[in-house]
This record gives sequence, C-alpha cells and structure tokens, in this order.
Amino acid sequence: MEKFIVKGRKTLSGKVRISGSKNSAVALLPAAVMTSEMVTLENLPDITDVRTMINILENLGVSIRRRGRDTIELKPGNLTKIAPAYDLVKKMRASYYFMGSLLGRFGQAEVPIPGGCDLGPRPIDQHLKGFTALGADINIEHGMIKLSAKKLTGARIYFDVVSIGATINLMLAAAAAEGKTILENVAKEPEIVDLANFLNAMGASVKGAGTDVIRIEGVKNFNGAVHSVIPDRIEAGTFMMAAASTGGKITVEDVIPKHLEAITAKIIEIGGKVEVEPESITVEYVSPLVPSDLKTFPYPGFPTDLQPPGMVLLTAAKGLSVITENVFDGRFNHVDELKRMGARIKVEGRTALIEGGVPLSGAPVTATDLRSGAALIIAALTADGESQISAVEHVDRGYDKFEQKLIELGAEIYRTSDDGILNLHSG
Ligand code: EPU
Repeated sequence: MEKFIVKGRKTLSGKVRISGSKNSAVALLPAAVMTSEMVTLENLPDITDVRTMINILENLGVSIRRRGRDTIELKPGNLTKIAPAYDLVKKMRASYYFMGSLLGRFGQAEVPIPGGCDLGPRPIDQHLKGFTALGADINIEHGMIKLSAKKLTGARIYFDVVSIGATINLMLAAAAAEGKTILENVAKEPEIVDLANFLNAMGASVKGAGTDVIRIEGVKNFNGAVHSVIPDRIEAGTFMMAAASTGGKITVEDVIPKHLEAITAKIIEIGGKVEVEPESITVEYVSPLVPSDLKTFPYPGFPTDLQPPGMVLLTAAKGLSVITENVFDGRFNHVDELKRMGARIKVEGRTALIEGGVPLSGAPVTATDLRSGAALIIAALTADGESQISAVEHVDRGYDKFEQKLIELGAEIYRTSDDGILNLHSG
C-alpha cells in the first residue's frame, strides 16, 4: 500500500498546467465504440481511471495505439464483445457508460452493477428509466445489468433528478436510436457538452448540450473522429483552493475560465485575489480569509467534487462557515480525517459547520475517496508538522501527476510504499 508523507507549513507558488478532464475522458472513451472507424483522442489525462478504461476497451477487442504522452488512437472495428470484464469494470463507476454505447451500437450490453467512490447511495434508476423509454428490455441477474433491444426508438424522457451519468448514458443510446429523442432536466456540465461535440464529430446529431434540454436525431452510422478532451475544471479548482489555503499564489494554465466561475466567485468571497486571463487563472492569498457559506449544486453551481478542498479552505478562515452538500447524501467522509488534524467541524445531515481559524496539525489520515484525498493533501500542506496520507490509490484515479505538480509548486511530498520512498525530488 502506498502513502504520501507531506511536510506541513508549505506555501505553494508558481504555474501549473492543467490536464484533460477525467470525467470527460471516461465518457468519451466508451463513446468511441459507437463507430467502427478510427478515433483519435487527444489531451487524455494520465490517470488510473483512464488506464482502466483503456484496458476495458482492449479487452472488448478494440485496437489501441498510443501516440505521444496524451493521445491515443482507437480502432473499434473488431469489437465483438458486449460484456466488459467484471474485474476491470468494478474498478470504476464510469464503466457503466458501456451500457449506453454498446446498446446503441449492438442493441445489447451486459454490464456489472456499478460501484465507485463511496459518496452515499448512488442509484441508477434514471439510467434504466431512460433505456426502457427507448425500448430496451432490462434484466438484472447475478449482479449484471443485461440490456437488449431489437430496435431503439427515440422518446421524450424527463429526468426526475439532474444526473450527469444518466444524461451521458441516454445521449449515447439515443444517438443511435431511430427518430428523435428529447432529454429534459438534463445535466449541463461542460463534460456533457464535450461528449456532445465528440458524438457530433462522429456524425451524430445532438443539439442543446449545456442547456436543460438536449434534442437528438438518431443516426445509423458513426464515422471516425479526432477530438481533444477539455481541461479538467476540478483539477484546476483543486489547485486554486490550494493556492488560497496555503497562503500562496498559483496560476492554473490551459483552463477554460468560464467553467470555473463558481469557484473563482467563491474564492473571491473568502478573501482570495483572482486574476482571470483568456486561458489561465491566478489565485493569490492576499489577506486573512473570511468565513463563508458554501452550497454544492449541479453546474453552473459550486461542484460537489470541490466541496472537500473547499472545506479545507474554510478551516483557514477565522469564524463560522457552513457547507451544505446538495448533490450526494454521504459526502462528508473526509470530515473525520480533518478532525484528526485538529479541524473543528460538526456535521448535521447534509450540513457541516466549520469553526475556522484553528491551526491544523499533521496526523496520519486516510483518503476515503478521490476528492477527499486531494483535500487531505492540501490540509497536510497547511498543517503544523508532518502528515501521512494512506490509500493514495484514490488520488491516482483522478489527478494526473499530482505530487509532481505539487512539488513543482514548492510542496514537500513523498510517496512511500512498504519498500521505501518512491519519489526523491521535492521542492
Ligand atoms: N441519481 C439518482 N438516480 C440516478 C442517477 C443519479 O438519484 O439514476 C442521483 C445521485 O444519487 C446523486 C445525484 O443524482 O445524488 C447526482 O448524481 P450524478 O448521476 O450526476 O453523478 P455521477 O454521474 O454518478 C458524476 C461524476 C462525479 C461527480 C458527480 C456530481 C463522473 C464519472 N462522475 O457522478 O465525479 O461527483 O457527477 O457532479 O463523471 C469525482 O470525479 O470524484 C466524482 C465522484
């Protein structure tokens, strides 16, 4: 098991290039099987989730060739299997996007019931309701979701909850259905727009992505395409929070500032200085931080994925702050770990009360999921003394070269395993 050892009281400063979006990449890769022609995906982040997704594709029979650091070519022409391998699928929730893409291409898919990060209950009722509306039969047997349809037919589907996953799965299946599909109350995240652009480049007709209603005219054949993944707004937001939390100054480069508006607004409200350029944002700590209320919402609201780093930032603001988690029922697993570091936080249902301004002290803590892991690393950088963060495999799932990027910004962070220290350079 690998751990991070993090030395505290470090101010992070400098520039960091933001990688391609994890949550786009893990949707675009399964979408590539909609065509039998060659697809080139550029700006893919080098993270475990993308490697797992590539392994699933190879296991299904897709030929994959790497071209440079962040580009791959996929040839899904030989793909014949409709059941991604359980051992790979269980590693990541997004593998359930093969339900939509394989159902679209072959009229059949068999995908294990998804797991994923423990953020509380994560039902998939909206996905299944949508597939049924398009005419698919669904059987759940022995832990597998088996979908089949002689013909998928376009339909009007109103989602009861705004779900990124359900929106993506239904975009995939509807893109290949006969006739028109209208998806209402859909997710509006930039990753949804990225997927729509990719599908359209492959010959689909998807309109309205980024609004509440997506209109899709199904097509029979999909062609090959070249597509570049959008920048990861959550990775960017994590470094922006790290700048303000550690009292430093960080420029996140190669970002789309529009995607980060909720985060820049919140950092300014908490007392950080933010300068926005066309493709970069600089966050600087200038004066004592002030407490604030933070509420997570679907895009364009403040993202739930930045709630854990946001909580760390608020522990540094003297006074009482309130965080309300509106997206997931159980996304406060990081609170107990932050308390080990001396944070004063009380959770009542979906609300966390933070008494900020109490200095944190280094401690052994455990990453409970991807974003809690990132938050604990930032907390450890601000704390007095040394921290040990276990279960770093969560962080590797979604942050491209996180510790190298932190080291370049001045962090002192070591990856250790039972065999000893794995990285020896630090800033
Ligand atoms: N929901 C339902 N029924 C459904 C689907 C969702 O009730 O059929 C509920 C969920 O329980 C949740 C809410 O709807 O309360 C939103 O869930 P959503 O489906 O939007 O989340 P997701 O697609 O499972 C994606 C990201 C998560 C991110 C959430 C929210 C990917 C691969 N995952 O998950 O990212 O937290 O949207 O923004 O895109 C992460 O990157 O660390 C991560 C967990």
